[in-house]
Amino acid sequence: MSSKEGLDKLRSEMRNITANIICQVQRRMELSKQIGEIKTKLNIDVMDEKVEQEVRGSILKLSKEIGMDTEFSGRLLNILLIESVRLQQKKQQYNNSQLTHLGIFMKAKQLEASGKKIIHMEVGEPDYPPPKNVKSALAQVYDSGQYHYTETKGIPKLRQAIAKKVGNSITDDQVIVTAGGRFAIFSAFISLMKSGDEVISIEPAWPAYKDCADFMGAKINILKTTLDQQWVPNIKKLEEMISANTKMIVLNYPNNPTGKILKQNDHKKIVSLAKDYGIYILSDEVYSDYAFNGFKSILEYNYDKSIMVSSFSKGHAMTGFRVGYGIADKDIITKMTKVQATILTSVAEPMQYSALAALEASPHKNIKLMKKRLDIISNKLRKMSLAFVEPDGGMYIYPQLKDDTEDDITLVKKLLDLNVAIAPGSGFGDSYRQFIRVSACQPEHVLEKGLNILEAAMFSG
Ligand SMILES: Cc1ncc(COP(=O)(O)O)c(C=O)c1O
Repeated sequence: MSSKEGLDKLRSEMRNITANIICQVQRRMELSKQIGEIKTKLNIDVMDEKVEQEVRGSILKLSKEIGMDTEFSGRLLNILLIESVRLQQKKQQYNNSQLTHLGIFMKAKQLEASGKKIIHMEVGEPDYPPPKNVKSALAQVYDSGQYHYTETKGIPKLRQAIAKKVGNSITDDQVIVTAGGRFAIFSAFISLMKSGDEVISIEPAWPAYKDCADFMGAKINILKTTLDQQWVPNIKKLEEMISANTKMIVLNYPNNPTGKILKQNDHKKIVSLAKDYGIYILSDEVYSDYAFNGFKSILEYNYDKSIMVSSFSKGHAMTGFRVGYGIADKDIITKMTKVQATILTSVAEPMQYSALAALEASPHKNIKLMKKRLDIISNKLRKMSLAFVEPDGGMYIYPQLKDDTEDDITLVKKLLDLNVAIAPGSGFGDSYRQFIRVSACQPEHVLEKGLNILEAAMFSG
């Protein structure tokens, strides 16, 4: 057989195999839909970790037997699993669980547009203004013509100032200025993971991590924590969740929504696990200015596969400026920069100069104010006999509703009718329907009024 004939034969065989794979995948999807229908009828959760582990185990064994790269077979399997979950969740119509703090915020905004006055205790946006010198920086950028495209990574002056602020021998080439902390997180996901890779997130969690994973076809594995365990993650379980496809662990401390800060011992263990398995740690530290005790940045561990994310939104009250940053090894920053170049070119130059000015101001006053407000909320919730963990930092408290209270969504809808917006607990994970998140981003008298309405709504039956 000539080389040309050999090539044609191989190509034809490959075509047939590919067609077979597609037919088998289609058959799998049909079966998955049928399973989804039965689950809906029996009111069973779509996710079943045990079944998933069994499938994973058997595919791993098979891959080894036939000499297939187990990392690749794991990714293929994850793509199939993600698609099955999507199909089955579509069937179950998770209407209520889709109502996050942002959903409530949007509803509250609509009510305001119709003339109602709403007490906003759902949103993570400080009510006080940015530092005063930001105002003069904004005026100055016009006169000095600082309104052009910049280096994608951000203007050198700002990157140098950020590097100086975070310390830990970070240099400006390890810094990327992003459009909010959110974009640093998104670009880290997009640049460091492939579809079918796995990421571990600790719940309750800010929903954007799951959204980023869903967006790029990565599989998110959830390590749940509970109020009973004081929101402390079980490190043994975390290790058990790590597979050959796990590429990233997301940490967020001080945490949104619980206000928890990881104990240093646990932090150390997680970093050590990540090092052992060569996994990235994405450490979302946007609330680090509001850390009241015992906070240690991931940067202090000097781990070359860590990405620290922070922002000017919270500590400097600059949400609308959309300036955040990522700090990591130079190669990681280069990859994140490519994502930002493709999507944004750069963060708006006037906003970068505003952020530079903000760094000269201390967020100390804001921190004191936030702590005082959180204390006011804690005291009231204690009087209402609600269980919660006293926050170590952040801008929120995450109390558990009483057993006889309706679920979170029913309660937050009732509260909206009473002109108070509060975030449902399930927006931070499906298993937190008995929680709500109270945000401290309002003046004291407004918080007190809102909390009184919450109390009346909860105890009026
Ligand atoms: C945990 C967490 N990370 C990141 C962000 C992103 O903030 P920004 O994009 O405004 O910097 C938020 C915003 O609420 C958050 O709660």
